[in-house]
Amino acid sequence: MEIAFILSLEHETLPEAELNAVLKTEEIPYTFKQKCNGFVTIEVPEEYLQNSLVNFKSSLSRLSLTHEVFQLLISTDAGDLLTRVKDYPWKDIVTDEYMVRVKKKGTSEVNTLELEKAIGGIIREKTGDKFKVNLEDPGIFIRTILMDDKAFLGLRIIKIPKKHFFDLKPHKRPFFYPGSMSPKLARCMVNLTMVKRGERLLDPFCGTGGILLEASIIGARVVGTDIDYKMVKGTIENLKYCNISDYEVFKADVRKLELPYQVDAVATDPPYGISASTRGEESHRLCEEALISLESLVKDDGRICMATPHYMDITEFVGGTKFKIIEQHHIRMHKSLTRVISVLVRD
Ligand SMILES: C[S@@+](CC[C@H](N)C(=O)[O-])C[C@H]1O[C@@H](n2cnc3c(N)ncnc32)[C@H](O)[C@@H]1O
Repeated sequence: MEIAFILSLEHETLPEAELNAVLKTEEIPYTFKQKCNGFVTIEVPEEYLQNSLVNFKSSLSRLSLTHEVFQLLISTDAGDLLTRVKDYPWKDIVTDEYMVRVKKKGTSEVNTLELEKAIGGIIREKTGDKFKVNLEDPGIFIRTILMDDKAFLGLRIIKIPKKHFFDLKPHKRPFFYPGSMSPKLARCMVNLTMVKRGERLLDPFCGTGGILLEASIIGARVVGTDIDYKMVKGTIENLKYCNISDYEVFKADVRKLELPYQVDAVATDPPYGISASTRGEESHRLCEEALISLESLVKDDGRICMATPHYMDITEFVGGTKFKIIEQHHIRMHKSLTRVISVLVRD
């Protein structure tokens, strides 16, 4: 069965990197089919989806930089779309009230409203009056994507809710401190570590706890430490605000951090030496020492996802540790700051 993803276009490489990481973490069997302009399709075995559709949906709901996931029903030249819609066995699909929506990507000149009406009209003709069009809360959502001269039509299976990322923006949480990371990026970083539900994720520079919140929400057990007690208290306040009770958060200097276990993953945003305090230590040196400390704290197959500013060359000091960089993404924050998101594994 072909599954399509509409990715966010807010970054060039992160949405696809996040999607790949989540598909692997959640052990979804797939083969890659095509990608173009924020639209990716994969082939997933029919038997897997029949047995695990609920799991499949819940596994993918951890994505932050994907908008929608749908089962592809028709893939054709745009000019042949309506003929293919007419030939489709709609009675097998339309088992509830439905809605048709068309999205244009690329250069298509088609009037989306007219096309929605035309597709809706054909479906109605084919299925009779048993199920009505419902534009408020349809049980069946038929999505069409027009991409240049191609058309893709499918049945939406997941819409990634954005409300959470909006409601939990750093300034809306009880404890706020400048320099906090957006929940969307925090979630994406957690996903890039490939941490699984029930596994432990550590943020040794936890600040206001944004990364820990996102990791908890997807079911990881979180461990957070910070050198500043005010941050430790603030993180706990933020976690409690989100009804998260299973956490370990305490004051520690990452360079001397000891844990009675090894963690499965690390996602962290060390101080850049601008708004977050480095306590006198130059950020570059601190990050290097943090990585050395993490050598014994992370399991052999554990991944680290780390955000650093563009002016800190992390390749310079990763070489002196037991880790290597396998992926990097650059996010331009403003004129004078680009964040570099690096994924590290043991060398
Ligand atoms: C950029 S902030 C983290 C922001 C966090 N991602 C958020 O969204 O709130 C970096 C944090 O590192 C902490 N820090 C600085 N030096 C540290 C050290 N040696 N060990 C542990 N934490 C340290 C600071 O107190 C600060 O809270």
